[in-house]
Amino acid sequence: MAQRLTIDRPSDGHLHLRDGAGMAAVVAHSARVFSRAVVMPNLSPPVVTVDLAAAYRERILAALPSGSAFEPLMTLYLTDSTRGSEIRAAKDSGFVVAAKLYPAGATTHSDRGVTGIDRIAPVLAELAACGLPLLVHGEVADPAVDIFDRERVFVDRVLAPLVERWPDLKVVLEHVSTREGVQFVSASSPLVAATVTPQHLLLDVNDLLAGGVRPHHYCLPVLKSREHRQAVTAAATSDSPKFFLGTDSAPHPRSRKECGCGAAGVFSAHAAIELYAEAFEAAGALDRLAAFATRRGPDFYGLPRAAGSVTLVRQPWRVPASYPFGDDVVVPLRAGETVAWRVIAEGEAQ
Ligand code: NCD
Ligand code: ZN
Repeated sequence: MAQRLTIDRPSDGHLHLRDGAGMAAVVAHSARVFSRAVVMPNLSPPVVTVDLAAAYRERILAALPSGSAFEPLMTLYLTDSTRGSEIRAAKDSGFVVAAKLYPAGATTHSDRGVTGIDRIAPVLAELAACGLPLLVHGEVADPAVDIFDRERVFVDRVLAPLVERWPDLKVVLEHVSTREGVQFVSASSPLVAATVTPQHLLLDVNDLLAGGVRPHHYCLPVLKSREHRQAVTAAATSDSPKFFLGTDSAPHPRSRKECGCGAAGVFSAHAAIELYAEAFEAAGALDRLAAFATRRGPDFYGLPRAAGSVTLVRQPWRVPASYPFGDDVVVPLRAGETVAWRVIAEGEAQ
């Protein structure tokens, strides 16, 4: 069994940093290991223009620990009224790398999201023309559809027709969580890919509901059955270039998770690469971790490989019960429990 693993600095294809004091409290967790991250735009109010993205990017850079080379890659939040010209400006900016489609009502801060694909047809045409990827929260918000079926139904009703109508558009099915999602991406053109979170590799619905409700395991897409988890794991650990790392680390204050109607989102940035290493080791695929975490995402986005490396050792450590998060705390994935892999700090002899 490998005890030590050195890989290039990974890239996070899907990260929620929030804003203000909360952002300042969590960004260092990602910058510790990751060279860069695709930063989600679902702030309140959302990041709907290049100017807002530029200002948000500056706030993130200002909050980084000194000497950090972490690069925030920005995204635009699509609404029914996003214009094609904003997409062109995004492309020209150089720091906006994608646009995010939240179906209205599907998840946290998605109320200003898109109500129908036809409404953003000119925007999708412009994205395809510019070569900017469309990042998709792939769940229908239809209350008639069970929460466990929302990704599968989205693939059938929305994603398949979208990909057929815009065959030149790069599309990422974010945080893929089902066998059907995996199958769709696998069968599509090389322009269609998916990100995979640590929780959808390591946990299934029993970890959310069996023996008591665990609100810190509640995220969207909701954790599925073991069979779906196995399909997602098989895809991530395969040699397909289509499945790459995107943590979906999504911090919420503890008070918003432990309450009568808890918010969706799992915070994993404190131990993300370590948790992926566990999942890949369990699947007997540690040798594929480097491709998944460092190469496939940048290649899909057309970004250069990142400089620098990180070394993981198989040495269990205990995750704190919480981390500071603005004027509250955030409860991390594995709080109070152990993670099998540890990242050696730069310069640490080991
Ligand atoms: C995310 C959040 O909290 O912003 N929550 C989540 O459960 N994943 C939004 C999202 O990515 O759906
Ligand atoms: Zn997300």
